[in-house]
Amino acid sequence: MKRIYIFTGKGGVGKSSIATAHAIKSAGEGVRTLLVSTDMAHNLGDIFGRKLGADIETISRNLDVYEIAPEYVMEHEFPEIGNYLGYLLSEEIDGSNGLQELCMIPGMEELFSLLRIAEIYDKEDYERIIVDCAPTGETLSLLKFPELLSWYMEKLFPIGKVGVRILEPISKAAFKVEMPNKAAMNDIEKLYVKLAGLQELLKNRDVTSIRIVTTPEKMVVEETKRNYMYMNLYDFNVDGLYINRILPKDIGNPFFEQWLDIQQGYISLLKDTFAALPIYEVPWYDEELKGRENIERIVADVLADDEVFAARVIAERECFRQVGDGYQLEVFLPGAKKEEIDLYQAATDVVIKAGNFKRNIPLPNILRSYEVAGAKFEEGKLRIRFEKVWEGSGEHA
Ligand SMILES: Nc1ncnc2c1ncn2[C@@H]1O[C@H](COP(=O)(O)OP(=O)(O)O)[C@@H](O)[C@H]1O
Ligand SMILES: [Mg+2]
Repeated sequence: MKRIYIFTGKGGVGKSSIATAHAIKSAGEGVRTLLVSTDMAHNLGDIFGRKLGADIETISRNLDVYEIAPEYVMEHEFPEIGNYLGYLLSEEIDGSNGLQELCMIPGMEELFSLLRIAEIYDKEDYERIIVDCAPTGETLSLLKFPELLSWYMEKLFPIGKVGVRILEPISKAAFKVEMPNKAAMNDIEKLYVKLAGLQELLKNRDVTSIRIVTTPEKMVVEETKRNYMYMNLYDFNVDGLYINRILPKDIGNPFFEQWLDIQQGYISLLKDTFAALPIYEVPWYDEELKGRENIERIVADVLADDEVFAARVIAERECFRQVGDGYQLEVFLPGAKKEEIDLYQAATDVVIKAGNFKRNIPLPNILRSYEVAGAKFEEGKLRIRFEKVWEGSGEHA
């Protein structure tokens, strides 16, 4: 089975170095591998010491590298949708170039990058696609984006092409929104289908692994825990943690004694929080990891284990199960704060809010006649209880 490995984490923690190490290891196993960067600040070219173009390039046997240029992808794959969305925006910002504005919507660039990756996954014969991501903030917005955008699209364009043409005069007046022309509508439909596919691909545990990279220091650890919580909120398959820049124990320099203690403190904290996952510890090297030879050090020191690419089943995940005469939805939200979690039931979804993030979890049909009867947050797990609604009691008895 072809797999996608997505490396995420705060800026500068070592995502590119560690993702590249995986790609080198993978190619070395004789497996056809693509290393792709969705970070606008690309640096794979620097690592491999050559300038990379807008397309996939072969670096060595079994190893291809690709620095995605989202604008290029958008112009070539979805020109109409680009123009249409750009047009909507240029209405707001007078006389500007819509296409450029579009690229400024947060998450947009990453979204087009991911769509391109999904396309490569389908069409090309890479057995492993290793994704070196932009820093956490952008990655998070991009991961919730398909859900968000398809929700928007449903609200904006609930009707087929024909309907849109008939409704056009009204819609303009009613919504003050220019309805898309036919070509754009085709593209919107195409994008729709692709978004649905993308979402399925990224959440499919048989396909996608999310790997989080961190370092043992306060600010990074905090962000790492939040990142993990949100990944679980959106039900992504996080199946590995990398703690990078660990000082060698035998450093023999009094200046670093206290730093060793500080690092150890955060390392054990991380081990507690991420107990469910395999954890890889990456040493702090005595040189910058520039160039392939240096990256090979990570391969030798940390990735010798044959299980690094294994498809793992991490037990904790969101699930509905029958409990007594009701149902329970369990969502894994490690590190969430109880007072931060908010919950309500909409027509067909249960909506969970955690801080600034919100997720709609569709209810299975069987639960449509049930309602939320209570919720508990314990040991990083949010458990929501559903009970049957008995309508018009007595009438039919
Ligand atoms: N374990 C390490 N030892 C020494 N230098 C490192 C280590 N990990 C990363 N670096 C260096 O830190 C910088 C940032 O690493 P990089 O992999 O580009 O991070 P990111 O992709 O997360 O921004 C690079 O210069 C890299 O060579
Ligand atoms: Mg990077």
